[in-house]
Amino acid sequence: MNTAIGAILRLCRNKNEKLIGINDGYSGLIKKDFFDFKNTRSDFIMGLSGTILHSARMPSFAEEKVIKEAAKNLIKEKIEGLIVIGGDGSFRGALALNKYSGVPVVGIPATIDNDIYGTDETIGFDTACNTALEAINKIKDTAMSFERIFVVEVMGKKRGFLALEVGIVAGAEAILIPEVESPLTEIVEGLKKEREKGQTDAIIVMAEGVTNRDKITSFIEEKTKCPTRKSVLGYIQRGGSPTRRSRMLAVEFASHAYELIKTAPAGPKMIGLDGERVITMDLEQSVEGHKEIDFERYELHRLLSNIY
Ligand code: F6P
Repeated sequence: MNTAIGAILRLCRNKNEKLIGINDGYSGLIKKDFFDFKNTRSDFIMGLSGTILHSARMPSFAEEKVIKEAAKNLIKEKIEGLIVIGGDGSFRGALALNKYSGVPVVGIPATIDNDIYGTDETIGFDTACNTALEAINKIKDTAMSFERIFVVEVMGKKRGFLALEVGIVAGAEAILIPEVESPLTEIVEGLKKEREKGQTDAIIVMAEGVTNRDKITSFIEEKTKCPTRKSVLGYIQRGGSPTRRSRMLAVEFASHAYELIKTAPAGPKMIGLDGERVITMDLEQSVEGHKEIDFERYELHRLLSNIY
């Protein structure tokens, strides 16, 4: 997110345009926490992970009176266009703000969950995948040395995009995601056969959106009779130096959002990625859409795994 902010700042600065930051997400709009970026160093921001604007989850931003207050502040501050960087919650707020203020809005999708409809990839997804991959590689060392099965839990909220991507490239024996019923019996049978043949360790990547995660781990241990540990990767997936891919995506999304907001587009818009092409779509369409998991990729994982 910081790379996107830094890129927008550079583009504005080079054209002598004023860029106002709003701290703490939508709660900053209520508190009127605006600041002028004129003294901020863009080079410093561009390499940082996270967001210097801070972020806040604000469930009350669904209430009409709260949104109206925020819209009023936006108008009072003479904001001519709003670029919102975030995920589903941020985009719902942006739609409401546009409705009540009339201020043009453009959304830049940024979430490690990669669950935004209308874009193949979101800012941060690649970085989170790489972080999870590196952690799994390290866990694999213990798995092999101690002949254990590891169930590695990755983030993703209710979706399995992160787990599927990471599981495939980590060479996981199994991937458990909310979108596919976990084939547990098949998995333990496969693991037992592999153990008999001499492979005494395994990695199972499990999305945090899968239900009964502890029970699944115990079930695998009980049925395979192999020491099985669960490892929750947690918040390391949300931080760290952004990868080249995440940074380039942020720069491209930012430059498209910058160009688009200056045209004061009719209706809220979102920037997205279609293949390797940056596209624009209606924000409402994105918020209302449901991004499907790539089931062909899931099948590819099964083909690659030695336990199915
Ligand atoms: O949406 C991004 C995400 O990292 C999810 O993968 C995760 O469930 C959530 O945020 C964690 O954030 P919080 O601590 O606010 O629930």
